[in-house]
Amino acid sequence: VTVARCETGALELGAGLEALVSATLAGLAEGEDLDVVSLSRSAVTEISAWARHSGHDVVGEDVEGGRSFAARLRRGPVAIGADAAAGTPLSLADGRFTTAKLREAVGPVPPRADPGAGMIPLGAVGSGTASRRAWRENDRDALWADKLAQLADRSARAQWDAVTDIPWAAAEGLKPDVERAVAQVMTYVAQNEYAAYYVPARHLAQINPAFLEMLMWLSGHVRDEARHIEVFTKRAVLGGVRSPALESTDLSLQTLLDEHDFTAAALLLNVLGEGTFLDLLAFIARHAPDAATATAAGLAQRDEQRHVQFGIAHVRRRLTRDPEERAALVTAVEERAARLVSLDGLNPVVAESLVLMSARSRQPTDVAEAGAAVRPSSSACMSAACGASGRLASTVRPRGTCRSCILRT
Ligand SMILES: [Fe+2]
Ligand SMILES: [Fe+2]
Repeated sequence: VTVARCETGALELGAGLEALVSATLAGLAEGEDLDVVSLSRSAVTEISAWARHSGHDVVGEDVEGGRSFAARLRRGPVAIGADAAAGTPLSLADGRFTTAKLREAVGPVPPRADPGAGMIPLGAVGSGTASRRAWRENDRDALWADKLAQLADRSARAQWDAVTDIPWAAAEGLKPDVERAVAQVMTYVAQNEYAAYYVPARHLAQINPAFLEMLMWLSGHVRDEARHIEVFTKRAVLGGVRSPALESTDLSLQTLLDEHDFTAAALLLNVLGEGTFLDLLAFIARHAPDAATATAAGLAQRDEQRHVQFGIAHVRRRLTRDPEERAALVTAVEERAARLVSLDGLNPVVAESLVLMSARSRQPTDVAEAGAAVRPSSSACMSAACGASGRLASTVRPRGTCRSCILRT
């Protein structure tokens, strides 16, 4: 029988000796022997003590001719690093390591993750010790959306900076009543952004660590909304105006936070709320009197498109896999949506500010033109099968579908 050998030179315990010996032992089977050879007698004595302490046996210690000293160790049942499973190195096309590729390498998303799982990175070997945490979101299908990994990667690439990416100087010098109107609109938008922030943030900490793509997506969403709050708050105060926050907006946003079911919350926030917001932000980007406001709205609108896309993909996937969920979901959402003022139309204070903001003057013809742009050109639902009137999802959307039709499609 050939005995494995580990030359350690002048290495001392605590300076790499045990790391080298440990790694060599990990490559042996339990019961196999290893000769540790050293230039130092004390190192041999110390590594023997270390080995006993680490669950290995010491078979013997010897002076190995000349100035060499040796200890023969027998590998015990446990060795650090021995549990690492051999894998195949990944081949990455064009140097990009996408999250979908990571998922492909570590195996599919489990339909049900262990609620007691520790914080074990994907692909890592579990330590076998249970977590004292009990994760609340452990069902893949209650959370997932098609192409979630791609959505998360896109979100990371699309981040922008509210400090430097907005032409802030362009906002200076507006007429006082136009500035007041802009500040009121910005305050209203920032208020809504808070709801969009707290809803995903509350779910984020409940998600099982096995669902990495979901953690990435939600934290990207939360980061987007924090930046939206930042950029619209900055624009609101830039011209020296302090606008009132609207209590009715606060109350209606509270209904979003009361919804604890992930899918119902996604339908309310991502599909209905942010879907409506897309129109409002597009309107502001088009009609803002200054480039700072227009740029902020345009950049936020781009983020919201992603959020709406996630919402639709998630709700669609959930309902396809679980058709019985549909009736319950529609009921839950209709109850809450009925209390969401912003879905029934803009607050009059905000609507008036939008008119003044886009008119940019008090000339009656300018105001009339701006008023027509803010009001919907038709109050009838555009869904062919519906025909309901006066229940548009959004006031600023010239053509739209009513709430019931959004839920049905
Ligand atoms: Fe937002
Ligand atoms: Fe959003």
